[in-house]
Amino acid sequence: ALAALEQRFARTIAADHRIEPRDWMPDAYRRTLIRQIAQHAHSEIIGMQPEGNWISRAPSLRRKAILLAKVQDEAGHGLYLYAATETLGADRADLTRKLIEGRQRYSSIFNYPTLTFADVGVIGWLVDGAAICNQVPLCRTSYGPYARAMIRICKEESFHQRQGYELLLTMMSGTEQQRRMVQEATDRWWWPALMMFGPPDADSPNTAQSMAWRIKRDTNDELRQKFVDMTVPQAEKLGVTLPDPELRWNPERGHYDFGTPDWAEFKQVLAGNGPCNAQRLAHRRRAHEDGAWVREAASAYAAKQAARAAA
Ligand code: 3HC
Repeated sequence: ALAALEQRFARTIAADHRIEPRDWMPDAYRRTLIRQIAQHAHSEIIGMQPEGNWISRAPSLRRKAILLAKVQDEAGHGLYLYAATETLGADRADLTRKLIEGRQRYSSIFNYPTLTFADVGVIGWLVDGAAICNQVPLCRTSYGPYARAMIRICKEESFHQRQGYELLLTMMSGTEQQRRMVQEATDRWWWPALMMFGPPDADSPNTAQSMAWRIKRDTNDELRQKFVDMTVPQAEKLGVTLPDPELRWNPERGHYDFGTPDWAEFKQVLAGNGPCNAQRLAHRRRAHEDGAWVREAASAYAAKQAARAAA
């Protein structure tokens, strides 16, 4: 019976069909999906902090409204993804606890500070640009609820990327000081954006299995290369330089050659020693504690409703 279930699972994956919540799946498939989708959800929620930092200081009402909409979108993306983990039997409160206790990860990129308003534009351009490179293939991930969440999220991500690039184009046609702000923010965010795609394939313990299960459709290095190829022309159009002296078009490969990210820095950020790790988790913990009364009130109300319905 188990062999039959394993064969059916393998046939479904090989046929590029979707695994749905009620289908049998290997425990390890379930576990790595909960790990990846939970960390994706945590990234969306933590990602609200660096940008949220500028909502009260946006330079115009239009920029404030756009930023407010984007940060609200990230919260929604987090909720879709937590809902996807619940179809695998995960418990949202448990995942939040694991995030706050540092037992589950969120994307390294959100451990860097947003020092000027140009960071808001560069995050839209580079961070959401990288997220799009990583998330479009995930629309074809083998687990149904995750793929469907991705389709909805990718639509909103393209707005995030375009508003960021448009913000930078505006600043680049501004004063010399504004142009310098854009270049300085680009210098700070370029390499951390490349690290968003994960370690090199040779150092990625999960990629091979995730590719075999068609959870991942491309490897970390393939998506990183795709992002570089897509972004270099955008930097040229913007009029900024990317902080990589080894960056050059390689006609034989048909791709840009580029330098090596600082993987020691990446490991440090993952170990919790990035510039903002402690601040991001403390903020999340405080928000969770401040919201305890809402959760208590909601469950007390639900209990009363249930008692009334039962009476
Ligand atoms: N930040 C934090 N941890 C990372 C990481 C990063 N950038 N890249 C890799 N890691 C961790 C992995 O989680 C894994 O640790 P674990 O086994 O304890 O979970 C370890 O480093 C080894 O990496 P692997 O490549 O073997 O791990 P994965 O196969 O999970 O690949 C990934 C990592 C490419 C990030 C993959 O998990 C993925 O594609 N996740 C979905 C996309 C996602 O999470 N994006 C977050 C970007 S932020 C965002 O989308 C918000 C947007 O609105 C800006």
